[in-house]
Amino acid sequence: MKISVIGAGYVGLTTAACLAQIGHDVFCSESDKQKLGMLQAGVMPVFEPHLEHVVKNACSAGRLRFGATEEAIGWADAIFICVGTPPLANGDADLSAIESVARMIAKRASGYRLIVEKSTVPVQTGAQLRKHLLVHSTNGLKYDVASNPEFLREGTSVEDFLHPDRIVIGVDASRAEKMLREIYEPIIDQIFDCPIHDACGQRKESAFLVTDTGSAELIKHAANSFLAMKISFINMVANLCEAVGADVTKVAQGMGLDPRIGSTFLNPGIGFGGFCLPKDVQAFIRIAEKSGCDFSLLKEVETINQRRVEHFVEKIRKELWVLRGKRICLWGLAFKPNTDDIRFAPAIAIAKTLLAERMQVRAFDPQAMEKAKTLLPEITYCNNAYEAAEGADAVLLLTEWEEFRRTDWCHLATLVERPLIIDGRNALPLEDLTRSGFEYIGIGGPSASPRLEPVMIRV
Ligand SMILES: NC(=O)c1ccc[n+]([C@@H]2O[C@H](COP(=O)([O-])OP(=O)(O)OC[C@H]3O[C@@H](n4cnc5c(N)ncnc54)[C@H](O)[C@@H]3O)[C@@H](O)[C@H]2O)c1
Repeated sequence: MKISVIGAGYVGLTTAACLAQIGHDVFCSESDKQKLGMLQAGVMPVFEPHLEHVVKNACSAGRLRFGATEEAIGWADAIFICVGTPPLANGDADLSAIESVARMIAKRASGYRLIVEKSTVPVQTGAQLRKHLLVHSTNGLKYDVASNPEFLREGTSVEDFLHPDRIVIGVDASRAEKMLREIYEPIIDQIFDCPIHDACGQRKESAFLVTDTGSAELIKHAANSFLAMKISFINMVANLCEAVGADVTKVAQGMGLDPRIGSTFLNPGIGFGGFCLPKDVQAFIRIAEKSGCDFSLLKEVETINQRRVEHFVEKIRKELWVLRGKRICLWGLAFKPNTDDIRFAPAIAIAKTLLAERMQVRAFDPQAMEKAKTLLPEITYCNNAYEAAEGADAVLLLTEWEEFRRTDWCHLATLVERPLIIDGRNALPLEDLTRSGFEYIGIGGPSASPRLEPVMIRV
């Protein structure tokens, strides 16, 4: 099928490349001229594992190209809208990019188009889209609007797109359902040339759930809000563990063994970030408010999350006493590992607070430093984790990149001013660290200090 994808961000570029990978002809448009120029020159504007390879393959097979939105709209049978829906100051999702694409479709397209909302939008956006396409249409446009929320996670977006747990489509017309089934058929049946795995035949088929448009829109916001709630819940349990001397890792393990709860998203830390959870929780609260439903449960989820940065900085203050002038090392800036995305990253909020305290902040992140440099030029950006730790009064783990776990702790101990690790993700090997002479402070658990050991033996 001829498919246009509007917006070449994390979602749009993954969608375009993967749809081309499974055999469709795809035109991906991007309004940011610099990003579009990069894509047309074969340079990736974002870091995402496997994506570059899939994009390059699809382009050289002639199934993927990049260009202007006007051209994309005129060309395709189905148009996937993947533009950003950032939060407004009041928490509402900003739908101006969606609206502007809708106007363009109404004015430029003639004949039938299936218009698919893949961006995360509030319930009833599909109904608004239908209305506005009708109002602005000038060229005899016939269309269906469908919702197809995206559940991919940055860092594993290609894998998630090609091997999803579920594909949800919200449709109000049988033609739309038929087209979307056809588009996703290779993924539903898991029959395509997989760019990631050798033996995909053994993978389970993906669930294909068909609903009305409004329900599909709600599924996305409800799912993300639920995940956010799980994180805030375990973060509160972590606070309680710190207060009573229990170990949140064990508590989470014990909870997660119940299949009704499950073990994922039960990792305490410095809070959730990124372009999805914080804004989707806010938007869901606003949707509920506007619909007359008091979803104060989610307001608490948000408040707990906002306090995580403050809570973490308090841990640093408790250990270092005076912050001003001290040298601190940040490991990780991205909101999670395997991405260069720093949008709403708790690491960035922590860095800003420490800079405001006039600390000397040094940082290393394997992928996110270019993006962070424009936002926080005051940080000293380093070439690797060891360089960042030189002379530091404390090393803070803020993003749990795998390479940080593989640090040579004995070597690190020779570089720092004080062997203190404050692990905001409970991801580092406590025993190795203490054996190498580090004091270790985690989240919601017993902290470990090697210096206490001789005292205990003498007693
Ligand atoms: N990032 C994620 O992990 C993720 C996961 C699921 C859903 N979503 C949702 O998907 C949507 C996109 O997210 P993202 O992270 O890809 O955002 P993004 O900001 O990375 O990408 C959006 C892109 O759309 C482009 N754009 C805006 N208007 C355009 C137009 N008229 N024509 C062409 N391009 C245009 C922007 O320049 C930008 O490059 C959001 O609604 C988000 O909530 C994101």
